[in-house]
Amino acid sequence: MKFFLDSANLQEIKEAISWGVISGVTTNPTLVSKEAGPFEELVKEICRLLQDNPVSVEVLSTTSGGMVEEARRLAALAENVVVKIPMGVEGLKAVYRLSSEGKRVPCNVTLIFSANQALLASRAGAAYVSPFIGRIDDISWDGVGLVRKIMDIFTCQKLDTLVIAASIRHPLHVEEVAAAGAHVATVPFSVLRQMSRHPLTDLGIERFLADWEKTRREEKI
Ligand code: E4P
Repeated sequence: MKFFLDSANLQEIKEAISWGVISGVTTNPTLVSKEAGPFEELVKEICRLLQDNPVSVEVLSTTSGGMVEEARRLAALAENVVVKIPMGVEGLKAVYRLSSEGKRVPCNVTLIFSANQALLASRAGAAYVSPFIGRIDDISWDGVGLVRKIMDIFTCQKLDTLVIAASIRHPLHVEEVAAAGAHVATVPFSVLRQMSRHPLTDLGIERFLADWEKTRREEKI
């Protein structure tokens, strides 16, 4: 399973890239609204930092025509832009056009809350689908269970759309979607940092250093 960073913050993105674990970035209008500066410049800078890796950027239009137009504008910003299209009939029409007409634009169909939505998005031509597991858990359904179901269906139906587990809220979500076979988990920076830590690791380092210091003191006596 690959990791994408779910962020539009340049500091977080640079830091996560330096860890060597990030294979892409996903943004959304909420994440972008937290950042300063012109939107297109921000997208270009994120894409430059990610080199060849995919950067998902979401459209705001609500009609398929508007989505297609916006998607083509976003795709022209950098080679590695993946256009995020919200699920729905207008979204499906847009994905179908973008994946079959003219210069193809890879699409990530977002706000997926059922296996049927994922199936339709895949058939329309989506390169990625993003089930939102945290938001499903928020309404007392089973977010990880949805990822498992989509993976089972895509595997037995031999669909090549990649599944991005999104709306990840904590490290256990990450382990569970990895076990479910998700192709990608898009993770907020705070969760990525939590994943790297364990109290026994901190304690272990503390003890090794204390033992080393003690030996060195004894050597000097
Ligand atoms: C995914 O692509 C979305 O940007 C994101 O994971 C949404 O997460 P949230 O439910 O925490 O807003």
